[in-house]
Parts: sequence; structure tokens; C-alpha cells
Amino acid sequence: MDQIIVRGGGALHGEIPIAGAKNACLTLMPLTLLTDQPLTLTNAPRLSDIRTMTSLLQSLGSEVVSLQDGQVLAMSSHDLTSQKADYDIVRKMRASILVLGPLLARYGHAVVSLPGGCAIGARPVDLHLKSLEAMGAELDLRDGYVFAKAPAGGLRGAAHGFPIVSVGATENALMAAALAQGTTVLKNVAREPEIVDLAQCLRRMGARIEGEGTSTMTIEGVTQLNGATHPVVTDRIELGTYMLAPAICGGEVECLGGRIDLVATFCEKLDEAGVDVVETERGLKVSRKNGRIRAVDVVTEPFPGFPTDLQAQMMALMCTADGTSVLEERIVENRFMHAPELTRMGARIEVHGGHATVHGVEKLRGAPVMATDLRASVGLILAGLAAEGETIVGRVYHLDRGYEKVVRKLRGVGARIERIKEVTSDE
Ligand code: UD1
Repeated sequence: MDQIIVRGGGALHGEIPIAGAKNACLTLMPLTLLTDQPLTLTNAPRLSDIRTMTSLLQSLGSEVVSLQDGQVLAMSSHDLTSQKADYDIVRKMRASILVLGPLLARYGHAVVSLPGGCAIGARPVDLHLKSLEAMGAELDLRDGYVFAKAPAGGLRGAAHGFPIVSVGATENALMAAALAQGTTVLKNVAREPEIVDLAQCLRRMGARIEGEGTSTMTIEGVTQLNGATHPVVTDRIELGTYMLAPAICGGEVECLGGRIDLVATFCEKLDEAGVDVVETERGLKVSRKNGRIRAVDVVTEPFPGFPTDLQAQMMALMCTADGTSVLEERIVENRFMHAPELTRMGARIEVHGGHATVHGVEKLRGAPVMATDLRASVGLILAGLAAEGETIVGRVYHLDRGYEKVVRKLRGVGARIERIKEVTSDE
């Protein structure tokens, strides 16, 4: 297993290109299951989660060809050979559940394993299932699988309100409704940019959708969808992560492809903390204003609120801020596993349930730490960049799920970071 070694201390200068969004790409890829015509995604990120979705689609009989070093995914699901998503692939990634809606809508039946994914909280899929049931699906949960069947004649449009906002459940329902008979009205839907991207791609394929980016979406089902070519939206989480690098270390970094509308609430918090963000023709330029970072409080919420996927990285910034900040996690249970690791680096953090209180210290010190999930791992790297001495981050496979070329991108702005093969005791 590889490790990442970070030697902290220096300011960062230069530019970092931001990739297409992992979470958008993972929901766009299953759209291939809705049509027998080719679907091509451009600006795809090169990540292990994308390779897992590729394997899942291929196991169903889709053709997925990766072109231009993985930045273009050419997909076709002309003749699917299976409507069963096996545990062996699904367990690696929770987003695998996103094949359920499309398979059910196009084929009238599907068998999908219940998912695994990051070890953060319980994270059920009941909201996905309820929305499909509202469209007439019969679901049977046994042996760790969902056995789903549409009514004769296919899924039927329905009015459905989500009791809590869920990104994935909104995506599954939207994909299923695109091919259902009649009108579907979905209320209390997620408004994330990845949902807007999904609706835009579906529209290119001939779907009739209104209201994406608001909390109600209306979908007029069509009998078939066409192929399309669609660029994946910029990854706002990768963007926010790299914006934090000069905030923590000092210097000035331009994040190419960055857009304020993707990270508006996050930028408000950076401004409060004493970080300058300027829109340029090519993206967002970030630098620290004079003096030490100020402590700010953060509450994670569905978009347009502060994203849970930037909470660990923001905590890394707060560790060396002037004063005390409270980070409240309202989206994902048990998402403070990075706190004890940061404490190993000299941070002063107390966690009580869904709140973490961070008392800023002058300096962090490098230490061996363990990545516990995808976003936590990059939070530890950011902390390492600010720390005195050497930080060794283990279990970096989490990182490969969501950050392409992280070492290369950070080295490009002057960070002292390298990836090494771990030497185990029996080697
Ligand atoms: C997506 C993102 C993930 C991000 C999360 C919240 C992808 C691939 N992943 O995950 O990076 O952290 O949004 O912004 O896009 N819930 C239920 N029942 C369900 C579904 C969800 O109770 O059926 C709960 C979850 O446990 C969680 C909350 O709803 O507490 C929000 O989860 P959701 O928005 O569904 O997250 P994901 O789509 O899984």
C-alpha cells in the first residue's frame, strides 16, 4: 500500500487545473443504460471510482471505452447481457446504486446489491427505493440485494416528495422518471450542481425536464432517449480543496476552471477567515490576506449550503486559525474521523456528536497519520502542508477514489510532497 509524504512549511505559487466532477461523472455514466445509442462524456476525471463504475457497466454488458487518457468516456448499451449489479463490484462504491433507476426504467426489472462505500455513518438507500416505489416499482430486499420490478407497461409518473434532501435518491428518481409514462413531480430534491449537470445531459438525450437547481423538478416521461455528447461539470470539491492549499500555506494559486457559483457559500467562509478569492478569466485566484487565518464557524448543509465534502479540509484550515471555531456536521453521521488524526499533528479538537470544536494552534507538527475516508485523506495532506516537519499519510487508496494526480498538482505549485511504495515488515 502506498503512502504520501508531505514536508510542510513553504508558500505555494502557480496554477492547478481542476478536473471534471467525480460525483457528476458517476451519475452521468449510468445514463448509458437508458438508451441503445452512444453516450460520450468529455472532461471525465481519471479516478478509481470511475474505473469501478466502468467495471459495473461492463458487467451489465455496456461497452465503455476510455479515450484521450481517460478524459473521454465513450459508452454504448445496445445489448445489455444482464440487469444484475453484483455485490463484488457494488460493495466497492455506494454510487453503484445509481444503476437501479435506469435499469428498471428501460428493462422493467433489475437486481442490485445493497452498496458499501466510504465508512462514514450508516448511509441507507431507503429514499432511493421509496421514490421508485412511488413510480409503481415492486421491490423485494433479500440476500443483500434489491430485486426490483416495474409494473406491466413500465414505470409510471408520480408525485413524490423526499422527506430529506438526498443527492443520490434525486438522481435515481430523475433517471427513472425520464423514461416513465406520464408526468413525475419530485419535491424537496437536491439542488447540487451535479444534479443540474445530470438534468442537462438528460435533456441533450431528449428528456423533458424542468426545475433543476430548484427544489421541485417536473419530468415528462418520453418513450425513448437518444445518444449525446456531454462535458462533465467542474469538480467543486476538488476546487474547494485546492483553494484551501494557499489559504493554509500562504502564497497565491489560480485554480483553472473554477467558478464562484459552484462554491459560493464556501467562498463566503473563506472571506470571513481572511482568504482572498478573485475571479479571473481562467478560474479563481486564491491568496491569504495579511496575517493569520481567523476562526470561523461552519455548518454543513445541502447545496447551496457548505458542502459536507469540504468539512475535513476546512477543519485542517481551522486547526491553525486564530481563535476557536465550531464545525457542525448535519449531512453525514460519524464524519469526524480525521479529528483524532489531526490531533496527532498537534491540533486541539473536541468532538461531541455532530459538533467539532477546534481551538486554533500556532503550528501543527508533522506525524504519521491514517486516511480514514476520501475527503479526510486530503484534509490530512492539507494539514501536512502547513505543519512543521514530515507528515506520512497511510491508506492513500481512499485518495485515489476522488483526486486525480494529487501529488503532481500540488508539486506543480511548489509543495514538497511525494508518493512512495509502502515497505511492509515482511518485504
Ligand atoms: C452524495 C455524494 C457524497 C456527498 C453526499 C452529500 C456522490 C457519488 N456522492 O452522496 O460525496 O457527501 O452526496 O452531499 O454523489 N440518506 C438516507 N437514505 C437514503 C439516502 C440518503 O437516509 O436513501 C441520508 C444519508 O445517510 C445522508 C443524507 O441522506 O445522511 C444525504 O445523503 P445523500 O445526499 O443521499 O448522499 P449520497 O448521494 O450518497
